[in-house]
Amino acid sequence: MKNVAVFGATGSIGTSALDVIARHPDRFRASVLSAHRNVEALAELCARHQPDLAIIADAALENALASALKSRGLRTQAAAGESALEQAAAGTQCDVVLAAIVGAAGLRSTLAAAHAGKRLLLANKEAAVMAGPLLRAALGQGGGELVPVDSEHNALFQCLPDSHDELHRRGGVRKLWLTASGGPFRGRTRAQLHDITPDQACAHPNWRMGRKISVDSATLMNKGLEVIEAQVLFGVDADAIEVVVHPQSMVHSLVEYVDGSFLAQLGQPDMRTAIAHALAWPERIEAGVARLDPRKLASLDFEAPDEETFRCLALAREAMHAGGDAPALLNAANEIAVAAFLAGTLPFLAIPDVIEAVLNELPPSPVVNVETLLERDLTARSVSRRIIGQQC
Ligand SMILES: NC(=O)c1ccc[n+]([C@@H]2O[C@H](COP(=O)([O-])OP(=O)(O)OC[C@H]3O[C@@H](n4cnc5c(N)ncnc54)[C@H](OP(=O)(O)O)[C@@H]3O)[C@@H](O)[C@H]2O)c1
Repeated sequence: MKNVAVFGATGSIGTSALDVIARHPDRFRASVLSAHRNVEALAELCARHQPDLAIIADAALENALASALKSRGLRTQAAAGESALEQAAAGTQCDVVLAAIVGAAGLRSTLAAAHAGKRLLLANKEAAVMAGPLLRAALGQGGGELVPVDSEHNALFQCLPDSHDELHRRGGVRKLWLTASGGPFRGRTRAQLHDITPDQACAHPNWRMGRKISVDSATLMNKGLEVIEAQVLFGVDADAIEVVVHPQSMVHSLVEYVDGSFLAQLGQPDMRTAIAHALAWPERIEAGVARLDPRKLASLDFEAPDEETFRCLALAREAMHAGGDAPALLNAANEIAVAAFLAGTLPFLAIPDVIEAVLNELPPSPVVNVETLLERDLTARSVSRRIIGQQC
């Protein structure tokens, strides 16, 4: 029996993970659940899954959470704040940590799980983007294993041999090909993107996801973050990572080998496949996902991404090549710009402008430790807010 901490339990990934866990009560138990401010949803999940511990990240809501648990007659303990997440990630109440908090807010708990040698199921791509060198060092020190949950990286993980580091060193892998759906605005010109609303940007054609990642998918920043994530997770050269648009979202990514072989992973666009794989690896378990019938796949299309219209992908590549903490600055600027767009105070097309201006203003510094990295993250956020204020 594995005890699983589900961080970001109230979100899209968190609820999908709880669905998979509940299908296997003989193998997995949700022992720790967390949310940011959504006390009622967290308490409801506690009533259903009976964890030992529930954590509300906003420390001001600890009493509200304790009351909500008590009023439901639950024995689940209440805790609050980022430090409670870090302690739980490293503590004895879990063997496995699903990092599914959105954004930089998930960084410390992700690093804590890696340091503690837990099996880390990584959905929180922003943590890998911000702190690649720190995450790799923490995994090395902790000796645990990371299994990617992001569907593209989970697909690459499945298509690479277990000893993939060794294979890279021997030169067996030529390229990692990340597939991208192209988002809701694939094929549109810049002129057609002027009046995009948050709801239009969040209406993804294939995936049901939280609002931040949905906007990232619409700008192609999601693919940019994933290119950086792939470099961190698989240790390949930046130039060995390619992006190909595949609108059906059935092929989740491909590995190209030097002998001309391509290995791809296919499946429904349902995150429960990647979550079930990451939970059970190297075994396989039922995920509750509708079966894919290859006879009914009418066509699988592939095309090059339009990086001139969707500039965020190119900006992410530039940050990756710049190195140091440039990916963290890119991520911070993106989080602020996306929040402003969702709040209706920044046009869709201005998101890359803000990110580019921040990267131009702040030259990269080396990544030394999490404290200095988070200071830089804060600086990038305040520069982003200033730039957005000037634009509006
Ligand atoms: N959704 C997908 O299909 C998908 C696929 C691949 C990767 N991912 C990645 O997985 C992560 C989660 O995405 P999602 O779509 O599940 O997001 P989501 O639906 O917006 O859920 C986010 C979760 O994080 C919590 N949270 C938000 N801000 C927080 C903070 N400051 N401190 C602590 N917890 C906080 C939320 O709690 P409240 O409910 O209280 O706000 C919620 O539980 C992201 O990094 C995303 O890029 C998602």
